Amino acid sequence: MHGMLGEPTPPDTDVARIDRVLARTLSEFADVPPRLVDAMRYAVLAGGKRIRPRLVYATGRLAGAPCDVLDYAAAAVELIHAYSLVHDDLPAMDDDDLRRGRPTVHVAFDEATAILAGDALQALAFESACADGVDPVVSRQWVRLLAHAAGPGGMVGGQVLDLEGETRPLGIAEIETLHRRKTGALLHACVAMGAVAGNMSDTAVATLDRFALEIGLAFQVHDDVLDATASTASLGKRQGADSRRGKSTYVAVLGIDAARVEARQRLAGALRELEPFGEAASELKAIARFVVTRDH
Ligand code: IPE
Ligand code: IPE
Ligand code: MG
Ligand code: MG
Ligand code: MG
Repeated sequence: MHGMLGEPTPPDTDVARIDRVLARTLSEFADVPPRLVDAMRYAVLAGGKRIRPRLVYATGRLAGAPCDVLDYAAAAVELIHAYSLVHDDLPAMDDDDLRRGRPTVHVAFDEATAILAGDALQALAFESACADGVDPVVSRQWVRLLAHAAGPGGMVGGQVLDLEGETRPLGIAEIETLHRRKTGALLHACVAMGAVAGNMSDTAVATLDRFALEIGLAFQVHDDVLDATASTASLGKRQGADSRRGKSTYVAVLGIDAARVEARQRLAGALRELEPFGEAASELKAIARFVVTRDH
């Protein structure tokens, strides 16, 4: 596309790009119950910072992978993330009624629809990870990375620990494990999926792995800090929900100041890992900084 004077339009941002990809992915159904489609679209298409897709695109570009292939991975991780939020908000879990500034899916629709929409989003994620446009060797790695990150040793296992932390106080080592699983694992998968889509040395992949693990932990520590310090209006979710439910968080165990220091130190560690890449990693650096400075 060109502007009136024939100059190329500015490059698409990754957020606009993934929004378009997701909208397309969620409009290609034939003969699916409309209420289910509505709930899935509601869960995915209204807002969200899209940090996970941004990590996929930034890492993939660093590895030299084409964006139209990365689209499938970016959509897959965001669909898993969206499903995890729908289930996380359910009455049996965090019992939240507000997400991204709107009623949660089980409030806007009903509980059964929310459960099923989450299930469907998860299945759709794996369909995206092995779409026709992706080299089968890459697909296979994506599916394994995604399954590992979303499964019992990753997000779901972390969610179990998170709920356990409501009934008994967890120690700081346990909270670190829970954070790494419930949030860190999927963020790590974003980076790993971007890396395997292109061409990178094993050393570079290992360095990015370490970067992703630091950022994954920093992300959840900052999420816990925001829960305690930001407003419901800026968060788009209820402020103070963690302490009301008696969750074991960094903030609960160490206090807000120490939790902030922890997030900063993890950021510093993450940025150090990127040094060997120089300027080429500037996008990843910007995302990493955003992870611990964002206000929602
Ligand atoms: C919130 O994730 C859930 C956690 C893993 C802490 P985000 O803060 O990325 O949520 P959205 O997608 O931007 O709404
Ligand atoms: C959610 O963690 C993690 C997953 C959805 C896997 P939180 O429960 O802290 O997320 P928010 O604060 O509700 O977004
Ligand atoms: Mg939760
Ligand atoms: Mg929650
Ligand atoms: Mg939270």
